[in-house]
Amino acid sequence: MSAKWEATYAAKSETERSWTQPLPAESLAFITDAGAPLDGPIIDIGGGASRLVDELLARQHTDITVLDISAAALAEARGRISEPVAEANVHWIVADLTEWTPQRGYAVWHDRAVFHFLVEPDDQEAYVAAASEGVVEGGSLILATFAPAGPEQCSGLPVRRWSADQLAARFAEHFELVKSAVISHTTPWGSTQPFTWVLLRRRGTSVGRATT
Ligand SMILES: C[S@@+](CC[C@H](N)C(=O)[O-])C[C@H]1O[C@@H](n2cnc3c(N)ncnc32)[C@H](O)[C@@H]1O
Repeated sequence: MSAKWEATYAAKSETERSWTQPLPAESLAFITDAGAPLDGPIIDIGGGASRLVDELLARQHTDITVLDISAAALAEARGRISEPVAEANVHWIVADLTEWTPQRGYAVWHDRAVFHFLVEPDDQEAYVAAASEGVVEGGSLILATFAPAGPEQCSGLPVRRWSADQLAARFAEHFELVKSAVISHTTPWGSTQPFTWVLLRRRGTSVGRATT
């Protein structure tokens, strides 16, 4: 799977990728709603070359992690950010999230357009386990997936479309729904894709890691 994503980032420029946003406005609004402090650890799961990291730095967030299966995608994001700023505030992780175990707790876990690629229940279960372990008690899980009326594929791969209720139920063991919305994304070439957005709050149990 990593080869597929490396090839996608090598072949397509920023404006040739359907998911590109000049400004990740919905992500920033949901992160504001999460209410974490600026030094609270925040991770962008499958962040790719998204400009979210740039915007979080502009907001003075100081503990940002971007994880993606594609090294090329992260290199593109890194290339936009000055080395000393990245060195002080950003961690970059190349990993397949279905095989990754968080090594610390995050106050905010953000995922736009990644969870929906997990069509197999085992992969979804691995993701739920990682998120349950990786989000601190009281922390926030922000997910954006294609909505039930959204496309059946993205980047040539099948996706699972989710409603807010379905997402809340999938993560219900450790998270409760705080807010949800269906928001249309406009691709760089002007077509629209409805996304389901949810903000989930991590309940207090012993599974989540402490912030370090
Ligand atoms: C549709 S793009 C969304 C990128 C970014 N979140 C955004 O909103 O611009 C999906 C991203 O997920 C990454 N990805 C896909 N499967 C992954 C996996 N199993 N583990 C980690 N990253 C993955 C891809 O490399 C790609 O950057």
